[in-house]
Amino acid sequence: MSEEKAKLQLDDQIIELPVYSGTEGERAIDVTRLHDEYGLITFDPSLANTAICRSEITYIDGEKGILRYRGIPLEQFDRAKPNFIEVAWLLIFGRLPNKTELNDFRNLLCEHELLHEGLRNQFQVLPAKAPPMAILSAMISMMACYYEEFLAYNDEQLLFEAAARLISKVRTIAAFTYRRSEGLPFIYPDPGLRYCANFLHMMFSLPYRQFEVTTEMEDALNLILILHADHEQNCSTNAVRVVGSTHANLFASCSAGVSALWGPLHGGANVKVMEMLEGIYHGGMKPQDCIEAAKDRTNPFRLFGFGHRVYKNYDPRAKILKASCDRVFANLKTSDPLLAIARELEERALQDNYFIERKLYPNVDFYSGILLRAMGIPTDMFTVIFAIGRLPGWIAQWKEQHDNPATKIIRPRQIYVGNSTTNYVDLNDRN
Ligand code: SDX
Repeated sequence: MSEEKAKLQLDDQIIELPVYSGTEGERAIDVTRLHDEYGLITFDPSLANTAICRSEITYIDGEKGILRYRGIPLEQFDRAKPNFIEVAWLLIFGRLPNKTELNDFRNLLCEHELLHEGLRNQFQVLPAKAPPMAILSAMISMMACYYEEFLAYNDEQLLFEAAARLISKVRTIAAFTYRRSEGLPFIYPDPGLRYCANFLHMMFSLPYRQFEVTTEMEDALNLILILHADHEQNCSTNAVRVVGSTHANLFASCSAGVSALWGPLHGGANVKVMEMLEGIYHGGMKPQDCIEAAKDRTNPFRLFGFGHRVYKNYDPRAKILKASCDRVFANLKTSDPLLAIARELEERALQDNYFIERKLYPNVDFYSGILLRAMGIPTDMFTVIFAIGRLPGWIAQWKEQHDNPATKIIRPRQIYVGNSTTNYVDLNDRN
């Protein structure tokens, strides 16, 4: 129980509220009893100042640009280069897996990389050029139709199995979505390949020619997925928690996460960044025109890939991705004019008072698309790749909430500002 108290004075009343501290000393005022005991509620429309849970999964310090998964700083994953699957296991189960556990998880993913034929057939009735995020959200939700044994999760083994199916099949769904949009035959997963190599194989191999996955490409995609794996209570994770708080199943909750991620202010920003860079490259706008348009409050244009609700410093993921772009292009002995444009935009923005005063820095979406483009992944698949990376984080956050016996359905309040009591007027008596 908290010893520290905050005092709130309203009218002639002094209200004492418990204050809690997190691992790194961040403090929160507990208002859970405010309505029941004082008839008061708090107002925080975008929840920017509200903790909806206690969590042990990911820690972010927005001022210092710190990001840690289960306490491990992100930079250590960049150096150690673990497999994405290992990080998925860490996020979901709270510790690094030993060799046997990692091997068992890998084998389980291999066992479940195919889609149920009923799911696969759905691709035939969907428009070939349907938005990939619409397909992904629908397919994940439809997994509830084909894997009904996982709808009522009541033990860790069942969650382990459901998580393996989701993390494995999401790659197949994504690859099949791309193949269908290109009029190409589906390429089935190859159990002999590691997670990322298998995805690239399903994306780019042909029936008569196996796609050669270079180590650079596999490592770059593995890094991108790790960097996207979790990010505490971001919007799509919050969507997963909200749906999961009703005791809806994991598939329904993750499908909601995909839908929330789709938005251009969130995961969809990586597509908008590429459109912005390509717009400059093709002569539509000059970099400074972008900067000026982003500063103009009458213009809805935003500098996509810049700014963050929590980071008021350089997003550590953007730093790692920017360095990875240099490595990949050096290895490929090529360059991408969009990278040079992105760099110029960053340089101009970071010297501009509008961005400095608002602490707007590059976020995870600013450089990720350039790397994905270097792998030949089309722009409309970028947010799908983000979702593949974020899936273990959604599962981990859903599990943490589900395993907490104190969890209640998430149902916020409001301040009502509509009509006071009015009367029904018969249709014949209306103007
Ligand atoms: C992700 O939350 C997460 O953790 C998300 C994420 C994750 O891993 O899950 O990190 C992934 O979603 C990254 C963000 C991707 N989105 C974009 O790149 C879209 C562009 N960025 C913005 O729309 C914005 O920065 C947000 C949405 C990311 C954050 O918005 P906030 O916190 O609501 O901040 P705000 O809109 O209130 O902005 C504060 C000020 C405003 O100006 P003033 O009212 O003070 O004059 O900053 C301005 C904004 O107009 N501003 C921008 C800007 N971002 C903020 N102005 C121009 N360009 C921008 N990109």
